[in-house]
Amino acid sequence: MHLPYGRHSLLLVSCSPKHSARACVLTPPTLHTRSVNTPTKTTGIGAGKAADLAYWESAARTIAAVSTTNKIVVEKSTVPVRTAEAIQKVLERNCVHTGVQFQILSNPEFLAEGTAISDLEAPDRVLIGGREDTEAGRAAIAALKAVYENWVPPERVITANLWSAELTKLAANAFLAQRISSINSISALCEATGADVTQVAFAIGRDTRVGARFLNASVGFGGSCFQKDILNLVYICESQGLKEVAEYWRSVVTINDYQKNRFVRRIISGMFNTIRNKNIAVLGFAFKKDTGDTRETPAIDVCRGLMEDGATCLVFDPQVTEQQMRYDLTDGHTGQSHSITSEQVAKQLKVSTSAFAACEGAHAVIVLTEWDEFKTLDWEAVFKTMVKPAFVFDGRNILDHAHLRELGFIVYALGKPVDPFLKNGNAL
Ligand code: UGA
Repeated sequence: MHLPYGRHSLLLVSCSPKHSARACVLTPPTLHTRSVNTPTKTTGIGAGKAADLAYWESAARTIAAVSTTNKIVVEKSTVPVRTAEAIQKVLERNCVHTGVQFQILSNPEFLAEGTAISDLEAPDRVLIGGREDTEAGRAAIAALKAVYENWVPPERVITANLWSAELTKLAANAFLAQRISSINSISALCEATGADVTQVAFAIGRDTRVGARFLNASVGFGGSCFQKDILNLVYICESQGLKEVAEYWRSVVTINDYQKNRFVRRIISGMFNTIRNKNIAVLGFAFKKDTGDTRETPAIDVCRGLMEDGATCLVFDPQVTEQQMRYDLTDGHTGQSHSITSEQVAKQLKVSTSAFAACEGAHAVIVLTEWDEFKTLDWEAVFKTMVKPAFVFDGRNILDHAHLRELGFIVYALGKPVDPFLKNGNAL
């Protein structure tokens, strides 16, 4: 691939292995990629909220050390606003070869796990932020734009100033997560009033100003990005003295935690206020279907909540390994604080090799990930093996609830009118 920006080469600096795989698709001889992590800081100022840019800075130092010609450095990572400025300073002060110039571009990506390649091939938009106020900045933007225009229609390639591009990535994820927390908050109200969240979401989404996507009520959003990016946004707002704005965005995470807790409380109260020594089949552990990724998955908090109350969790996920589940529920846990020990996890977590095996002999089945295979499970056969009354708690609303009721199950479906059998006066 010929790059019009003759004296420069482009370096894409990205933030995870999945991104690196995507960046390689773009790699002609003069394009180089480097993947580094940008996790949330665990210690020091901004711990738990701010992004840790240590790896990013180290990548910049490496670029500076080996650069003998002008470079365009492209940020693909989700970073705090004005990171590009810091990187520029690191590059300029550490480059051993005199006269080498650096242009920093922010080119955040909007790919989702499980659909990354199709998102890359046909993006809604590509965003390129750079120094629009200088000739060198405009030339750098044009160079990257030309790369994308090999397959993306020009009207989908948006240019902006650096700070707008950096902020857009955080704000875009915050908006998506906010939609989920909004519909999840409405799901609680639906249960209290007898409304049906699916019907409400459908009718809201028919307004073209709102749109139909990302309105599925769930047990909570997970994944490596949403919570991290919102907390990062909260930290930036706080740093700028914008207390009310910070609180507004923090509430998106608060509702997400509430939804996970609410689901656990609904299970406990529905099962006669005790799940001690009961077997609960947990279908799905990944944060969404078609991935084995468990980062910030709601399953961690839900399983810990159930185990804390004495239940045994029989978990099945088609892509998550037992080792990963055990790690997430003990050492790798960063979510809500449930006071369970690693000994409890060792005793109360049992990992099954199939969905059916997980459900055999269980008191309740809960659905935490929307894997297609759970819809087609032989529910009649499952019912026969289960302790009665047999409960199903559908945290993704993917099952055929009417059919399950016909079979004899007591069904809880998130945000749907609550089965009288499950009502015991506890407000949820
Ligand atoms: C998300 C964004 O969608 C991408 O645009 C972004 O590029 C990416 O983060 C990133 O920053 O790298 P991803 O984390 O792969 O992508 O997953 P999503 O499909 O956005 O789902 C996130 C969570 O929300 C999942 O737990 C999912 O189950 C949940 N969700 C999604 C709902 O609960 N309801 C919905 O209607 C949609």
